[in-house]
Amino acid sequence: MKKKVLIVCGTRPEAIKMAPVINGLKGQKSGFNTIVCVTAQHRHMLDQVLSIFRISPDYDLNIMKENQDLFDITEKSLKGLKGVLETVRPDVILVQGDTTTAFIAGLAAFYLKIPIGHVEAGLRTYNKQSPFPEEMNRHLLSVLADYHFAPTEWSRSNLLKEGIPEDRVWVTGNTVIDALMQVARGQRPAVRKRFFVESFKRKYNLELTTQNSKLILVTGHRRENFGEGFENICNALRRIAEQRKDVVIVYPVHLNPNVQRPVKRILGRVENVRLIEPLGYEEFVFLMSRSFLILTDSGGIQEEAPSLGKPVLVMRSTTERPEGIRAGVVKLVGTKERDIVDGTFELLEDSKAYMKMSGSANPYGDGKASEKIARILFSVLQ
Ligand code: UD1
Ligand code: UDP
Repeated sequence: MKKKVLIVCGTRPEAIKMAPVINGLKGQKSGFNTIVCVTAQHRHMLDQVLSIFRISPDYDLNIMKENQDLFDITEKSLKGLKGVLETVRPDVILVQGDTTTAFIAGLAAFYLKIPIGHVEAGLRTYNKQSPFPEEMNRHLLSVLADYHFAPTEWSRSNLLKEGIPEDRVWVTGNTVIDALMQVARGQRPAVRKRFFVESFKRKYNLELTTQNSKLILVTGHRRENFGEGFENICNALRRIAEQRKDVVIVYPVHLNPNVQRPVKRILGRVENVRLIEPLGYEEFVFLMSRSFLILTDSGGIQEEAPSLGKPVLVMRSTTERPEGIRAGVVKLVGTKERDIVDGTFELLEDSKAYMKMSGSANPYGDGKASEKIARILFSVLQ
């Protein structure tokens, strides 16, 4: 009898990181019955990922509304998931990371006594306000979950310190590296590269040369940065662009209105800043590979960029991913205007500092995390 695995995800990064798991489980010869439910906490940004990885959800709760708050997501996904879990009655559910979708799916499964597997378990800042609410979401998930798939030894050690039994924690690597490698492999042929270069030129009037000494890629969306943090980030970007006319800042702007408003107000008319829509994953990976450096507050990008040998300045005061910092390829610059500008200028002007940060490092896995998760699940569900 095939074991039923229900995978729940809601946002762009969960879909990227779960895509290799879903496709891996579906392809397993041993045979799982793999069912996918999306809350659609994100709509457009989720659909972009599902279409790239050719995933058609079996259930779609379609909960997103404009400028939703945490109560909206919690209430709608909890109620919707009750119905799905009662209908499907899976042997296990799998959730990923630290979003409200992931936490609520874990809670719903616990209420129905369904075992929970947590992918990307054990990341911590131990500061419950930062990132908010993700730090609390992942703590709560660790308490709820039965199977913990830690991406690194460090995340495993956090779980063990917190009393999670050793035989319930596996170090698998991060599935984001599986997704990244899959997409990057598809971009190797010269004809694919030409396609992306031409499409960036046509759509965004952006010249992507192989030596991209002048392209700074930016993303940002963290809730704890709304308001002052975002104003500072945008003011810093404006100063960098105004002082370095030779640089192009490319910023695919997250669709959250709390991000869109300050970004468009402060950066909308700066000549060498291109504000563009969120990119499909393939385009985004190509842009990362052609950029000089990346400024971000994203979690996933901190994991991907080291594999591509791109220095990352993280516009946050904490990170739950210290491995990139230890490897010397990621640096925390915080959200003060001055620190962001200084950190960027150092990399633009000091080639030694740049070289030190641009060696490629791979602390987050070898691209086989989803295979390992499938094998482990198969053995624990027997
Ligand atoms: C969510 C997650 C965060 C994750 C991030 C990835 C929570 C609490 N937050 O934050 O952990 O890092 O996703 O991006 O789980 N919107 C659209 N279309 C979309 C997506 C978003 O219009 O496709 C707009 C909507 O107005 C929506 C708003 O963005 O209400 C906020 O979305 P939400 O998921 O609540 O927050 P994020 O900041 O995206
Ligand atoms: N990403 C993307 N298009 C974009 C910006 C980011 O596909 O325009 C990808 C990026 O490569 C990474 C993920 O989205 O895998 C990060 O998502 P986000 O920053 O929204 O969330 P976080 O990682 O902070 O949870």
